Amino acid sequence: MEYKLLGDSFQIKELNDTIKQVAPANISILVTGESGTGKELVANSIHFYSTRKNKPLIKVNCGAIPEGIMESELFGHQKGAFTGAIEQRKGYFEMADKGTIFLDEIGEMPFGTQVKLLRVLETGEFMRVGGDKNVNVDVRIIAATNRNLAYEVREGNFREDLYYRLKSINLNIPPLRERKSDIVILFNYFIENFTKENNIEFPGITEEAMEYLINYVWSGNARELKNFCESIIILNNGKEITIEDVKKNLKQEIFDNRALPALTAQKVETNYDKDLIMRAMFELKTDIMELKQAIGKMSDFKVKAPYDLNSDFYIPKEIIKTMSLEEIEKEILLYFLKTFDWNVSKVADKLGQTPRNIYRKIKLYNIEKS
Ligand SMILES: Nc1ncnc2c1ncn2[C@@H]1O[C@H](COP(=O)(O)OP(=O)(O)OP(=O)(O)O)[C@@H](O)[C@H]1O
Ligand SMILES: [Mg+2]
Repeated sequence: MEYKLLGDSFQIKELNDTIKQVAPANISILVTGESGTGKELVANSIHFYSTRKNKPLIKVNCGAIPEGIMESELFGHQKGAFTGAIEQRKGYFEMADKGTIFLDEIGEMPFGTQVKLLRVLETGEFMRVGGDKNVNVDVRIIAATNRNLAYEVREGNFREDLYYRLKSINLNIPPLRERKSDIVILFNYFIENFTKENNIEFPGITEEAMEYLINYVWSGNARELKNFCESIIILNNGKEITIEDVKKNLKQEIFDNRALPALTAQKVETNYDKDLIMRAMFELKTDIMELKQAIGKMSDFKVKAPYDLNSDFYIPKEIIKTMSLEEIEKEILLYFLKTFDWNVSKVADKLGQTPRNIYRKIKLYNIEKS
């Protein structure tokens, strides 16, 4: 079992160092990061490097437990505490005694339960549901969330006191798109695990395809990359992975079935919105790269001369590749102006423009009669 976060970005190195530094102390830790960035892995790692490593690590997904039974799940209940409570039952906190409890998706914890959690954090004590005695436990708390808790506090969904208490040590995992140097390492790691497990040989990947993966906006982060690695191996069925395979596999759903966020004066708060915008930007970048490639394949540039002229306007392709659209427009205009003896209305007529437009362009491009 790998307990270290893999990657050679400075962010991951720093994170691994901090984990080793804070793991031995009993302080509670808040792990934040977008979905799939490795929050659970960080929790495993903290537990592993702590003195509690041989004691239980109990993982609780706060988002998956119905609100009504949350407290009895966490703190247990006495016999007869409610209909169906035929036995006394230990909650997760008692099960985790001397070990660590990982409260995943802490942002989903009901407001009422948050008070009780704060109390455990402060005193190590709680009461079972229906109980009248304090129970004492020695538990290290690690909480995780992909939500912006500060925002949830402002919205009144999360207790401010609990927030400050939790975030005294906050390990934040940056999204994969901000630490591109980790992508190749993670790719190799996920591929190796999967091919070994399934006894498949890795058919290799082209440089171009790898480049695409490095620049891709992994909004599902390491988890999305892991899923990608597994499916591409299966789909490619022993064939080397090319950029076309990659693109097909990563087919963007953004423009198909998701609405783009409305741009309002409000700050972008949710990861979902950020996600969409990042993906849209990536799409644009890909389009531009493809356009550039198309221009690279383009032939010489010609503007057919009007019937009363005998030479076409012509720029060889080696030169046009290096020019911007404005530069091309300026050259065309200059050519026509010279040809028609700087008669603007004639040039306008030949180019199907209004004279005013031509004057505007002359001014814009600083064209001077020579
Ligand atoms: N730096 C890393 N090195 C090795 N494996 C990683 C790394 N980061 C993530 N992973 C792997 O990626 C997968 C997703 O990570 P994990 O489940 O920890 O993410 P998460 O932040 O808890 O996601 P979610 O928000 O969806 O719960 C796991 O299989 C994990 O082992
Ligand atoms: Mg998780």
